[in-house]
Amino acid sequence: MSGIHNPNKKEGKYRIAWLPGDGIGIEVLDAAQIVLDKLKFKADYIHGDIGWEYWCKEGDAFPARTIDLLKNVDAALFGAITSKPVKAAEAELTPELKGKGLTYRSPIVRMRQLFDLYICLRPLKAYPGNPLNFKENIDLVVFRENTEDLYSGVEFNPVPRELADTLLKLAKPFGAFKDVPLDKYAISCKINTKKGSERIIRAAFEFAKKFGRKKVTCIHKANVVRATDGLFLETFKEIAKEYPGITTDDANIDAICMWLLKNPFNYDVLVAPNLYGDIISDLCAQMVGGLGFGCSGNIGEKLAVFEPTHGSAPKYAGQYKVNPIATILAVKMLLDWLGEKEKGVALESAVATVIAAGKVRTYDIGGDAKTLELAEAIAAQL
Ligand code: IPM
Ligand code: MG
Repeated sequence: MSGIHNPNKKEGKYRIAWLPGDGIGIEVLDAAQIVLDKLKFKADYIHGDIGWEYWCKEGDAFPARTIDLLKNVDAALFGAITSKPVKAAEAELTPELKGKGLTYRSPIVRMRQLFDLYICLRPLKAYPGNPLNFKENIDLVVFRENTEDLYSGVEFNPVPRELADTLLKLAKPFGAFKDVPLDKYAISCKINTKKGSERIIRAAFEFAKKFGRKKVTCIHKANVVRATDGLFLETFKEIAKEYPGITTDDANIDAICMWLLKNPFNYDVLVAPNLYGDIISDLCAQMVGGLGFGCSGNIGEKLAVFEPTHGSAPKYAGQYKVNPIATILAVKMLLDWLGEKEKGVALESAVATVIAAGKVRTYDIGGDAKTLELAEAIAAQL
């Protein structure tokens, strides 16, 4: 596995924002602390309030003080946060905050947008000997656009009259909805920019070039979603010309879900707009052992936030039984990004050794080890 390196490697102590969130986020970050300490990584870990409890108590799951903290750190490690649909979220607000028009938006999505963390980098590697591998030797890297697309947050339910009138004037197919009452439908806007498409696609190619990857595949649905995905695919084709040494191809999101399962070795680096990137991340994670193995970097020019791809898994919260490997691999990505290459290599090889030995396994891998026992087993290899 490889990462994107921060050119400004620091000599002294790092400042790392520590954002456990809620649910199993807290438990997997405890596991991360064990390996970071064993690596003697020199850092101050500054706790940031974030998560469901702050939504319920303060009406904001990502309070301003945590946003300020992120302006002043070298990187962040994030656990997981519970997200609920709008109405369910409103119902859990403390009584004084109810009916104030507060709306819940996923803090991680806000963080990605607020700090322009436009690259979502997700390496998916089948570590030898993992009994959950779909096939041995799978080694894929997903580049997911992280700030735009259907995650734009521009949504309407109910639909304002003005918007409906404008759409009726400008878009012929909208006629099909013209008699639907405004409170009986909803609109979510998929917004993709040329700049946003260009920079994620370029990041994927630069990564391929730097790490000797052979192929970059663009994922889209340009045959149906013609405006936004058309723009993405067109941009991909333009940028591909700058990288003549790298093979390219493209596929529809539905087809790639089938092809990835059928012929995983035909793929290498995958680049996609936000939502398709989200979807294939889970598919590819399952091919290398499930979400317990999926790590993620949200990377911008000034800040990078590393996290496991899995969510807060409320049903397992408090039991310290989930697999911490996704988070430990996110730590490896953080070390790489900071330029701490040796520590990153050591950590990945410790993870690989423990997986191959197969003695300490959490429930998802068929064992009965607890979260922190697996972290200790990895730390013992360092
Ligand atoms: C992910 C997650 C998030 C997303 C959720 C938790 C908002 O699924 O990081 O893949 O949709 O991006
Ligand atoms: Mg996801």
